[in-house]
Amino acid sequence: MKRSLSGIKPTSGLPHLGNYLGMIKPALELQKSHETFYFIADYHALTTIRDPKKLKADTFQMAAAFLAFGFDPAKGALFRQSDIPEITELSWILSCLASYGDLTRAHAYKAAKDEGREGEMNLGTFSYPVLMSADILLYDSDVVPVGQDQLQHIEMTRQLAQRFNHYYGEVLKKPEALVQKDMATVPGIDGVNKMSKSYGNFIEPLASEKTLKTQVMAIVTDSLGLDDKKNPDESAIVKFYKFFASPAEVADMESKFRAGGYGYGHAKIALLDKIKEHFDPMRKRFDALMKNPDEVESVLKEGKQKAQAQATLVLDKVRKACGLS
Ligand code: TYM
Repeated sequence: MKRSLSGIKPTSGLPHLGNYLGMIKPALELQKSHETFYFIADYHALTTIRDPKKLKADTFQMAAAFLAFGFDPAKGALFRQSDIPEITELSWILSCLASYGDLTRAHAYKAAKDEGREGEMNLGTFSYPVLMSADILLYDSDVVPVGQDQLQHIEMTRQLAQRFNHYYGEVLKKPEALVQKDMATVPGIDGVNKMSKSYGNFIEPLASEKTLKTQVMAIVTDSLGLDDKKNPDESAIVKFYKFFASPAEVADMESKFRAGGYGYGHAKIALLDKIKEHFDPMRKRFDALMKNPDEVESVLKEGKQKAQAQATLVLDKVRKACGLS
Protein backbone atom coordinates (compact mmCIF):
# COMPACT_ATOMS: atom_id res chain seq x y z
CA MET A 1 0.00 0.00 0.00
CA LYS A 2 1.34 3.44 -0.90
CA ARG A 3 2.07 5.89 1.89
CA SER A 4 0.83 9.47 2.19
CA LEU A 5 2.71 11.78 4.54
CA SER A 6 2.20 15.37 5.56
CA GLY A 7 2.82 17.77 8.41
CA ILE A 8 1.38 20.91 9.91
CA LYS A 9 3.03 23.45 12.18
CA PRO A 10 1.36 23.90 15.55
CA THR A 11 2.21 27.61 15.53
CA SER A 12 -1.30 28.57 14.62
CA GLY A 13 -2.96 26.89 17.60
CA LEU A 14 -6.16 26.07 15.77
CA PRO A 15 -6.12 25.11 12.09
CA HIS A 16 -7.68 27.61 9.67
CA LEU A 17 -9.80 26.98 6.59
CA GLY A 18 -6.71 27.16 4.35
CA ASN A 19 -5.08 24.34 6.32
CA TYR A 20 -8.29 22.34 6.32
CA LEU A 21 -9.22 22.68 2.65
CA GLY A 22 -5.67 22.75 1.26
CA MET A 23 -4.19 19.92 3.27
CA ILE A 24 -6.17 18.27 6.08
CA LYS A 25 -9.30 17.33 4.13
CA PRO A 26 -7.44 15.83 1.13
CA ALA A 27 -4.98 14.15 3.49
CA LEU A 28 -7.84 12.47 5.33
CA GLU A 29 -9.50 11.40 2.08
CA LEU A 30 -6.29 9.53 1.26
CA GLN A 31 -7.03 7.24 4.21
CA LYS A 32 -9.28 5.31 1.80
CA SER A 33 -6.40 4.33 -0.46
CA HIS A 34 -3.13 4.94 1.40
CA GLU A 35 -1.37 4.30 4.65
CA THR A 36 -1.34 7.76 6.18
CA PHE A 37 1.49 9.26 8.27
CA TYR A 38 0.64 12.74 9.54
CA PHE A 39 2.52 14.72 12.14
CA ILE A 40 2.58 17.97 14.04
CA ALA A 41 5.77 19.82 13.09
CA ASP A 42 6.94 21.02 16.49
CA TYR A 43 10.66 21.00 15.54
CA HIS A 44 9.80 23.39 12.71
CA ALA A 45 7.80 25.56 15.10
CA LEU A 46 10.92 25.97 17.27
CA THR A 47 12.28 28.30 14.58
CA THR A 48 9.83 30.93 15.86
CA ILE A 49 8.29 29.85 19.19
CA ARG A 50 10.18 30.57 22.41
CA ASP A 51 7.45 29.65 24.88
CA PRO A 52 7.72 25.95 25.87
CA LYS A 53 4.26 25.77 27.43
CA LYS A 54 2.67 27.24 24.33
CA LEU A 55 4.57 24.90 22.00
CA LYS A 56 3.45 21.89 24.00
CA ALA A 57 -0.17 23.03 24.28
CA ASP A 58 -0.44 24.05 20.60
CA THR A 59 1.06 20.75 19.46
CA PHE A 60 -1.43 18.80 21.53
CA GLN A 61 -4.32 20.95 20.29
CA MET A 62 -3.37 20.44 16.65
CA ALA A 63 -3.24 16.67 17.20
CA ALA A 64 -6.72 16.80 18.78
CA ALA A 65 -7.94 18.82 15.77
CA PHE A 66 -6.58 16.22 13.35
CA LEU A 67 -8.44 13.51 15.22
CA ALA A 68 -11.61 15.58 15.38
CA PHE A 69 -11.47 16.14 11.61
CA GLY A 70 -11.52 12.36 11.16
CA PHE A 71 -8.02 10.91 11.36
CA ASP A 72 -8.37 7.16 11.89
CA PRO A 73 -5.39 5.74 13.83
CA ALA A 74 -6.04 2.30 12.33
CA LYS A 75 -5.14 3.68 8.88
CA GLY A 76 -1.70 4.99 9.80
CA ALA A 77 0.13 7.12 12.35
CA LEU A 78 -0.51 10.52 13.90
CA PHE A 79 2.57 11.72 15.77
CA ARG A 80 4.66 14.60 17.01
CA GLN A 81 7.61 15.36 14.75
CA SER A 82 9.90 15.59 17.80
CA ASP A 83 8.89 12.11 18.99
CA ILE A 84 11.11 10.81 16.19
CA PRO A 85 14.51 12.42 16.82
CA GLU A 86 15.94 10.30 13.95
CA ILE A 87 14.62 13.14 11.79
CA THR A 88 17.40 15.42 12.96
CA GLU A 89 20.06 12.90 11.99
CA LEU A 90 18.71 12.52 8.47
CA SER A 91 18.38 16.29 8.31
CA TRP A 92 22.10 16.63 9.10
CA ILE A 93 23.04 14.07 6.46
CA LEU A 94 20.90 15.84 3.87
CA SER A 95 22.26 19.22 4.87
CA CYS A 96 25.69 17.97 3.77
CA LEU A 97 24.21 17.62 0.29
CA ALA A 98 22.12 20.81 0.17
CA SER A 99 23.90 23.79 -1.30
CA TYR A 100 23.79 27.35 0.00
CA GLY A 101 22.41 28.32 -3.41
CA ASP A 102 19.49 25.88 -3.08
CA LEU A 103 18.58 27.33 0.30
CA THR A 104 18.80 30.96 -0.77
CA ARG A 105 16.14 30.22 -3.36
CA ALA A 106 13.66 29.16 -0.63
CA HIS A 107 10.65 31.46 -0.05
CA ALA A 108 11.40 32.12 3.63
CA TYR A 109 14.97 33.19 2.91
CA LYS A 110 13.94 35.40 -0.01
CA ALA A 111 11.24 37.10 2.06
CA ALA A 112 13.71 37.81 4.88
CA LYS A 113 16.27 39.13 2.40
CA ASP A 114 13.73 41.40 0.70
CA GLU A 115 12.89 42.86 4.10
CA GLY A 116 16.58 43.20 5.05
CA ARG A 117 16.17 40.64 7.88
CA GLU A 118 18.47 37.92 6.57
CA GLY A 119 21.16 38.68 9.19
CA GLU A 120 18.69 37.94 12.00
CA MET A 121 17.41 34.73 10.44
CA ASN A 122 18.28 31.71 12.57
CA LEU A 123 19.94 28.67 11.05
CA GLY A 124 16.80 26.60 11.65
CA THR A 125 14.76 28.91 9.46
CA PHE A 126 17.46 28.95 6.79
CA SER A 127 17.63 25.16 6.68
CA TYR A 128 13.86 24.67 7.19
CA PRO A 129 13.48 22.94 3.78
CA VAL A 130 16.19 20.39 4.67
CA LEU A 131 14.40 19.33 7.85
CA MET A 132 11.21 19.12 5.81
CA SER A 133 12.97 16.90 3.25
CA ALA A 134 14.10 14.64 6.08
CA ASP A 135 10.48 14.48 7.34
CA ILE A 136 9.34 13.20 3.99
CA LEU A 137 12.24 10.93 3.04
CA LEU A 138 12.55 9.21 6.42
CA TYR A 139 9.21 7.48 5.92
CA ASP A 140 9.58 6.34 2.29
CA SER A 141 6.62 8.56 1.44
CA ASP A 142 4.92 8.17 -1.95
CA VAL A 143 2.64 11.22 -1.89
CA VAL A 144 2.63 14.44 0.11
CA PRO A 145 -0.72 16.28 0.23
CA VAL A 146 0.00 20.01 0.64
CA GLY A 147 -1.16 23.47 -0.34
CA GLN A 148 0.53 25.36 -3.18
CA ASP A 149 2.90 27.23 -0.82
CA GLN A 150 4.73 23.98 0.03
CA LEU A 151 5.42 22.90 -3.55
CA GLN A 152 8.86 24.45 -3.62
CA HIS A 153 9.82 22.43 -0.53
CA ILE A 154 8.67 19.17 -2.11
CA GLU A 155 10.66 19.96 -5.23
CA MET A 156 13.72 20.51 -3.05
CA THR A 157 13.02 17.19 -1.31
CA ARG A 158 13.00 15.42 -4.67
CA GLN A 159 16.29 17.06 -5.63
CA LEU A 160 17.94 16.07 -2.36
CA ALA A 161 16.73 12.47 -2.73
CA GLN A 162 18.12 12.41 -6.23
CA ARG A 163 21.45 13.83 -5.09
CA PHE A 164 21.70 11.31 -2.24
CA ASN A 165 20.90 8.43 -4.59
CA HIS A 166 23.42 9.72 -7.14
CA TYR A 167 26.24 9.51 -4.60
CA TYR A 168 25.18 6.53 -2.53
CA GLY A 169 22.86 4.32 -4.63
CA GLU A 170 19.06 4.05 -4.81
CA VAL A 171 18.09 4.42 -1.15
CA LEU A 172 15.64 7.30 -0.88
CA LYS A 173 12.21 7.30 -2.50
CA LYS A 174 11.31 10.43 -4.49
CA PRO A 175 7.85 11.60 -3.39
CA GLU A 176 5.10 13.27 -5.43
CA ALA A 177 3.34 16.40 -4.20
CA LEU A 178 -0.44 16.23 -4.25
CA VAL A 179 -2.08 19.64 -4.56
CA GLN A 180 -5.85 20.18 -4.76
CA LYS A 181 -6.63 22.10 -7.94
CA ASP A 182 -9.46 24.23 -6.51
CA MET A 183 -8.06 24.67 -3.03
CA ALA A 184 -4.33 24.99 -3.67
CA THR A 185 -4.42 28.52 -2.26
CA VAL A 186 -7.44 29.35 -0.15
CA PRO A 187 -7.86 33.15 -0.02
CA GLY A 188 -7.95 35.09 3.23
CA ILE A 189 -10.91 37.10 4.50
CA ASP A 190 -9.13 40.28 3.36
CA GLY A 191 -9.64 39.13 -0.24
CA VAL A 192 -6.00 40.09 -0.95
CA ASN A 193 -3.61 37.51 0.50
CA LYS A 194 -3.78 33.74 0.92
CA MET A 195 -5.35 32.72 4.21
CA SER A 196 -2.60 32.63 6.81
CA LYS A 197 -2.10 33.17 10.54
CA SER A 198 0.67 35.63 9.76
CA TYR A 199 -1.70 37.87 7.77
CA GLY A 200 -4.41 37.65 10.45
CA ASN A 201 -6.99 36.97 7.72
CA PHE A 202 -8.24 33.56 8.78
CA ILE A 203 -11.36 31.64 9.74
CA GLU A 204 -10.90 28.86 12.31
CA PRO A 205 -13.68 26.31 11.90
CA LEU A 206 -13.07 24.76 15.33
CA ALA A 207 -13.14 28.08 17.21
CA SER A 208 -16.02 28.89 19.58
CA GLU A 209 -19.27 29.96 17.87
CA LYS A 210 -18.68 33.53 18.99
CA THR A 211 -15.18 33.72 17.53
CA LEU A 212 -16.25 31.96 14.35
CA LYS A 213 -19.06 34.49 13.88
CA THR A 214 -16.67 37.41 14.41
CA GLN A 215 -14.26 35.96 11.84
CA VAL A 216 -16.95 35.35 9.20
CA MET A 217 -18.53 38.78 9.74
CA ALA A 218 -15.06 40.32 9.22
CA ILE A 219 -14.82 39.12 5.59
CA VAL A 220 -13.93 42.25 3.66
CA THR A 221 -16.50 43.48 1.10
CA ASP A 222 -16.93 46.59 -1.01
CA SER A 223 -19.28 49.33 0.18
CA LEU A 224 -22.36 48.49 -1.94
CA GLY A 225 -25.61 48.84 0.06
CA LEU A 226 -28.40 46.37 0.69
CA ASP A 227 -30.42 47.34 -2.40
CA ASP A 228 -27.49 47.45 -4.82
CA LYS A 229 -26.98 44.71 -7.38
CA LYS A 230 -23.74 42.88 -6.70
CA ASN A 231 -21.30 40.79 -8.73
CA PRO A 232 -21.04 37.33 -7.10
CA ASP A 233 -17.89 36.52 -9.09
CA GLU A 234 -15.99 39.18 -7.18
CA SER A 235 -17.22 38.25 -3.73
CA ALA A 236 -15.03 36.46 -1.18
CA ILE A 237 -18.23 35.38 0.61
CA VAL A 238 -19.42 33.49 -2.46
CA LYS A 239 -15.96 31.94 -2.89
CA PHE A 240 -16.09 30.52 0.65
CA TYR A 241 -19.75 29.54 0.26
CA LYS A 242 -18.80 27.39 -2.74
CA PHE A 243 -16.55 25.27 -0.54
CA PHE A 244 -19.47 24.14 1.61
CA ALA A 245 -22.79 24.69 -0.17
CA SER A 246 -24.44 22.57 -2.88
CA PRO A 247 -24.41 23.86 -6.49
CA ALA A 248 -28.14 24.76 -6.15
CA GLU A 249 -27.48 26.75 -2.97
CA VAL A 250 -24.58 28.56 -4.63
CA ALA A 251 -26.74 29.38 -7.70
CA ASP A 252 -29.41 30.75 -5.34
CA MET A 253 -26.92 33.02 -3.54
CA GLU A 254 -25.49 34.20 -6.87
CA SER A 255 -28.90 35.15 -8.22
CA LYS A 256 -29.71 37.05 -4.99
CA PHE A 257 -26.46 38.99 -5.41
CA ARG A 258 -27.37 39.93 -8.98
CA ALA A 259 -30.97 40.88 -8.14
CA GLY A 260 -30.12 43.34 -5.32
CA GLY A 261 -32.04 43.62 -2.04
CA TYR A 262 -29.66 41.07 -0.51
CA GLY A 263 -26.95 42.50 1.71
CA TYR A 264 -23.47 41.22 2.44
CA GLY A 265 -24.61 40.67 6.04
CA HIS A 266 -27.28 38.21 4.81
CA ALA A 267 -24.72 36.36 2.73
CA LYS A 268 -22.28 36.16 5.64
CA ILE A 269 -24.97 34.66 7.90
CA ALA A 270 -25.77 32.07 5.20
CA LEU A 271 -22.07 31.24 4.98
CA LEU A 272 -21.71 31.05 8.76
CA ASP A 273 -24.63 28.61 8.94
CA LYS A 274 -23.02 26.41 6.28
CA ILE A 275 -19.65 26.39 8.06
CA LYS A 276 -21.34 25.57 11.36
CA GLU A 277 -23.39 22.79 9.75
CA HIS A 278 -20.27 21.28 8.17
CA PHE A 279 -18.03 21.49 11.24
CA ASP A 280 -20.47 21.06 14.15
CA PRO A 281 -19.84 17.32 14.66
CA MET A 282 -16.08 17.91 14.39
CA ARG A 283 -16.22 20.81 16.87
CA LYS A 284 -18.12 18.63 19.36
CA ARG A 285 -15.55 15.87 18.97
CA PHE A 286 -12.72 18.41 19.32
CA ASP A 287 -14.18 19.83 22.54
CA ALA A 288 -14.57 16.29 23.93
CA LEU A 289 -10.97 15.38 23.01
CA MET A 290 -9.60 18.53 24.62
CA LYS A 291 -11.31 17.40 27.84
CA ASN A 292 -9.89 13.90 27.49
CA PRO A 293 -6.16 14.30 26.86
CA ASP A 294 -5.47 10.61 27.54
CA GLU A 295 -7.27 9.61 24.35
CA VAL A 296 -5.15 11.97 22.25
CA GLU A 297 -1.96 10.95 24.05
CA SER A 298 -2.60 7.28 23.44
CA VAL A 299 -3.08 7.91 19.70
CA LEU A 300 0.17 9.91 19.64
CA LYS A 301 2.00 7.15 21.51
CA GLU A 302 0.83 4.50 19.05
CA GLY A 303 1.69 6.85 16.17
CA LYS A 304 5.18 7.34 17.54
CA GLN A 305 5.79 3.58 17.64
CA LYS A 306 4.63 3.05 14.04
CA ALA A 307 6.54 6.05 12.72
CA GLN A 308 9.70 5.09 14.59
CA ALA A 309 9.69 1.55 13.21
CA GLN A 310 9.66 2.97 9.69
CA ALA A 311 12.17 5.71 10.47
CA THR A 312 14.68 3.22 11.86
CA LEU A 313 14.49 1.09 8.71
CA VAL A 314 15.22 4.01 6.40
CA LEU A 315 17.85 5.61 8.63
CA ASP A 316 19.76 2.31 8.91
CA LYS A 317 19.90 2.08 5.11
CA VAL A 318 20.98 5.71 4.85
CA ARG A 319 23.74 5.34 7.47
CA LYS A 320 25.11 2.22 5.80
CA ALA A 321 24.92 3.77 2.35
CA CYS A 322 26.96 6.81 3.29
CA GLY A 323 29.56 4.99 5.36
CA LEU A 324 28.47 5.82 8.89
CA SER A 325 28.66 3.14 11.54
P1 TYM B 1 1.79 24.90 7.49
O1 TYM B 1 1.69 24.52 8.92
O2 TYM B 1 2.09 26.31 7.17
O3 TYM B 1 0.46 24.52 6.75
C1 TYM B 1 -0.09 23.21 6.80
C2 TYM B 1 -0.69 22.86 5.45
O4 TYM B 1 -1.74 23.79 5.13
C3 TYM B 1 -1.55 24.29 3.82
N1 TYM B 1 -2.05 25.67 3.74
C4 TYM B 1 -2.86 26.11 2.78
N2 TYM B 1 -3.43 25.49 1.73
C5 TYM B 1 -4.23 26.23 0.92
N3 TYM B 1 -4.52 27.55 1.15
C6 TYM B 1 -3.99 28.20 2.19
N4 TYM B 1 -4.29 29.47 2.40
C7 TYM B 1 -3.11 27.48 3.07
N5 TYM B 1 -2.41 27.81 4.18
C8 TYM B 1 -1.76 26.69 4.58
C9 TYM B 1 -0.04 24.26 3.62
O5 TYM B 1 0.30 24.27 2.25
C10 TYM B 1 0.33 22.97 4.30
O6 TYM B 1 0.17 21.86 3.43
N6 TYM B 1 6.31 23.27 6.17
C11 TYM B 1 4.96 22.85 6.45
C12 TYM B 1 4.87 21.79 7.53
C13 TYM B 1 5.71 20.60 7.26
C14 TYM B 1 5.47 19.60 6.26
C15 TYM B 1 6.51 18.66 6.40
C16 TYM B 1 4.49 19.44 5.26
C17 TYM B 1 6.83 20.24 7.94
N7 TYM B 1 7.31 19.09 7.41
C18 TYM B 1 6.62 17.54 5.55
C19 TYM B 1 4.60 18.31 4.43
C20 TYM B 1 5.63 17.38 4.57
C21 TYM B 1 4.17 24.05 6.90
O7 TYM B 1 4.72 25.00 7.41
O8 TYM B 1 2.82 23.93 6.76
